Amino acid sequence: MGSVQDISSKTDGTTTLGQEFTKNVIQSMGPNASPRMREVMSCFIQHIHDFARKCNLTVDEWTAAVKMINWAGQMSDDKRNEGQLMCDILGLESLVDAITYDQALKSGKPVTASAILGPFWRADTPTRPNGANISSDTPEDGQLVYMHGRVTDAESGNPIPNATIDVWQASTNGLYEQQDPNQKEHNLRGKFITDSYGEYSLYCLRPTPYPIPNDGPAGKLLALLDRHEWRPAHIHLIALADGYKPITTQIFDKDSAYLNDDSVFAVKEGLVVSFAERKNDPQASLELAYDVHLGRCI
Ligand code: BEZ
Ligand code: FE
Repeated sequence: MGSVQDISSKTDGTTTLGQEFTKNVIQSMGPNASPRMREVMSCFIQHIHDFARKCNLTVDEWTAAVKMINWAGQMSDDKRNEGQLMCDILGLESLVDAITYDQALKSGKPVTASAILGPFWRADTPTRPNGANISSDTPEDGQLVYMHGRVTDAESGNPIPNATIDVWQASTNGLYEQQDPNQKEHNLRGKFITDSYGEYSLYCLRPTPYPIPNDGPAGKLLALLDRHEWRPAHIHLIALADGYKPITTQIFDKDSAYLNDDSVFAVKEGLVVSFAERKNDPQASLELAYDVHLGRCI
């Protein structure tokens, strides 16, 4: 075995397992591991072994990390995804999102920039008619916005009818409805279907900055790293249409705090938007025009 050879071949009195050991762990995969699993896990094992050697990681430190991972699993359920939150504060979801987006860009004209999904999307969001208000009980400090736009084919510029725009946002208290017993089920979320001109419209809240949950391991890690928990004001969107690649993204208020300091590293220049004054609308004093450009599936 490589590990046994590694230890016995040391001449300086140390027993750290070296590259032979790592090679042995990687080579222990059987012939039925898929090529992609083999590629990803070989790379992962190589990097975590090199990381442990480089940092001289101790058993106590590794045990603390395992406890945090277990804690994340224990507090996760269908309303909370603490493992994803841990990845988010380490920038991993944003990095993977950027890698995936770059691959999509290689095949066609620029589509709307993507951003991370985050842990608060719900699969069972109801479809609402265009022009509906997703804020079922607008808080006193909330400002309603008329949000509207077109979904188009990035290549031709043609409108895409029957596309779905799935929107969700936090309330002004910084909580998504599933985190807050005082909000109605599915408050501040809705799916909208574009009309024959590719247009959608809805009323929502002007988003406000909020702190990500800090009562679990992600919050503990932020504190250990002397970092804050805040996200800049944003609205989440997923755009989907038959024959097109779906886009998950977020749009950020250009006047928000934390644009340069997002706790989950999700802000991209192309996703920063301006809210304009809206006149003669008894429902909303602000307006946001936002078009989405989708690329065809190849
Ligand atoms: C969010 O924007 O909903 C979010 C994203 C990443 C971590 C926590 C929250
Ligand atoms: Fe969010």
